[in-house]
Amino acid sequence: MMRQLYHNLILRAGNQIDPNAPALGVPPLKLQAFMAWCLRGGWRVVWLGVVISMLAGLTEVVSMQLLGNVVDAVAETPSEAFLSNHMGLVLACIFVLLVARPLLFGGLALTQSVMIGPNIGMQVMARMFRWTLGQSVTFFDNDFAGRLAQKKMQASNSLTEIVIETVNAVTFGLATVLGTAFLVGAVSPWMILALVLWFGVYLAFLRVMLPIIRTRSAARAEAKAQVTGQVVDTISNIKTVKLFAGDRYEDGKALGAMEHLRRTALRFGEAQTLFRLGLMFIAGALPVILVGMAIAMRDGGGVTPGDVAAVGAVGIRLSQMTGWISYTIMVIYSHVGEVEDGMNTLAPPNRIEDASGAAELEVRDGHIRFENVSFAYGQRDGGIEDVTLDIAAGEKLAVVGASGAGKSTLVSLLLRLYDTEKGRITIDGQDLSQVTQDSLRRQIGMVTQETAMFNRSALDNIRYGPPDASEAEGMRAAQTAEPHEFILG
Ligand SMILES: Nc1ncnc2c1ncn2[C@@H]1O[C@H](COP(=O)(O)OP(=O)(O)OP(=O)(O)O)[C@@H](O)[C@H]1O
Ligand SMILES: [Mg+2]
Repeated sequence: MMRQLYHNLILRAGNQIDPNAPALGVPPLKLQAFMAWCLRGGWRVVWLGVVISMLAGLTEVVSMQLLGNVVDAVAETPSEAFLSNHMGLVLACIFVLLVARPLLFGGLALTQSVMIGPNIGMQVMARMFRWTLGQSVTFFDNDFAGRLAQKKMQASNSLTEIVIETVNAVTFGLATVLGTAFLVGAVSPWMILALVLWFGVYLAFLRVMLPIIRTRSAARAEAKAQVTGQVVDTISNIKTVKLFAGDRYEDGKALGAMEHLRRTALRFGEAQTLFRLGLMFIAGALPVILVGMAIAMRDGGGVTPGDVAAVGAVGIRLSQMTGWISYTIMVIYSHVGEVEDGMNTLAPPNRIEDASGAAELEVRDGHIRFENVSFAYGQRDGGIEDVTLDIAAGEKLAVVGASGAGKSTLVSLLLRLYDTEKGRITIDGQDLSQVTQDSLRRQIGMVTQETAMFNRSALDNIRYGPPDASEAEGMRAAQTAEPHEFILG
C-alpha cells in the first residue's frame, strides 16, 4: 500500500515535464534566450524546486536557533522540570528535525532527480536534435557528425546541470545567508553589518578567482581533447602509419600532446590550490568574527550563552558551506561555457524550407527538365554551370564524366538537397522549389556511391524507404538484390 503510493507519487512527479514538448520557433543566438528556448515548458517545476530549496535552506538556520534556545533552557531549568517547562521547545525541535527537514530535503531530491533531471535533459536534447535534422546538407558538409552529436549531448547535459545546481546550491546558499542575517540581526544589528561585509569579501574573492580557474580548466580540457584526437588519429590510420614506418614519429607527436596536457594540468592545479587556501581563510573568519562579537556584547546587554551557541553554529555551518557552494558555482560557470559552445554550433540556421503553401509533387509521366541550372556550392566555381537537360518520360539516361565533372551535384539538385543558384528544375512541369521536399524525395529512388548502413537490423535497413513494408516484402527485396543468403549466413 505504502509502496504503491510511493510509486504513484514518483510516477506523477516524473511526468510533470513533457520532454517531447516542441520548442517555440527558431533557437536564438543569445545565451539567455537560447536557454529559455531550451527550457520552455519546464519553468513551473524549476520554480517549485527553488521554493523547496529556499525553505530547506531556512531550516538550517532554524535548527541553529533552536540549539541556542535549548542551551538557554538547559542553563536556566533544573533537569526534572525541563520537559514540563519547555514542552513547546521540545516539540518544535522534533517538528523541525524529524518532520520539516526530512520532508523538505526529500522534496528537493524529488524535484531534482525525478522531476527535473531525467526530463529536462531529454527535452533539450530532443529540441536540438529536431532542429539539427532540419538543417540542409550544406550544414552537415561543413562539420563532422561526431562533433555535432557530442556538442548536442554536452550542451543538454550542461544545461540540466546548470538548472539543478542553481536550484540546489545557489538558492539553498542564499536562503541560508538570508536566514543567518535574521538570526544574528536579532542578537545585534552590528552583526548584520559584519555578515554583509564578510559576504562582500567572499563574492569579491569568487569574482577574481573563478575566471582564472575557468580559463585554466578550459585550457586543460582542450589539451585533453588534443591528446585524444592525436591518439584516435594515429590508431584509425594505423595501416598508413605501418606502411610508412611512422611509429616513432607518431609516438613523438603523442608525447608532445601529453606533455602539453601535463603543463596545463599543473597550471590548473596551482590555481585550485590558491583558491582553496583563500577560501579556507575567508570561511574561518566568519565564526571567529560572529562569536567574537557575541562574546564582546555579553556584558553590555541581552546576549545569552544560547545566543553565542546559535551564532557560532550558524557561523560554522555557513563557513562549511562556502567550499561546497564555491565549487558548485565553478561547475555551473564551466557548464555555461559548454552551453554557449553547443549553441554556437547548433543554432546557425542553414536550412531549405518548403515554400509556403507548397503542394505535393504529382508525378504523372516523369518528365524532368533542367532549365539553365547553375550551382557552385556558394562558391565562384565548381559544381555545374548553365546546364539545360530535357529527359523525356521513361527515357534512360547515363551521365558520364571525369571525377569532379558535376554528376553528383546534378543528382543532389534533382533531390533538392541544395537549391539551385540560377535556373530551375521541373518534374512534369512542377517547379521543384514549389513542392514539398518530402513528396519529392519519396518519389525518387537513389543508390549512392557510398554504402550507408544504420546500426539496426538488416530488415530495418532494407525497409528504411517504405517503413510500413511488410517483413515478407523486405525478404523479397533481399532475395531480388541477392544479399539474402549473405544476411542469413
Ligand atoms: N560540398 C561541396 N562544396 C564545395 N564544392 C563542392 C562540393 N561538392 C562538390 N564540389 C565541387 O563541385 C564539382 C562537382 O563535384 P561532384 O561531386 O558533383 O562531381 P562528380 O562528377 O560527382 O565527381 P565523382 O565522379 O568524383 O563522384 C567539383 O569541382 C567539386 O570540387
Ligand atoms: Mg560523384
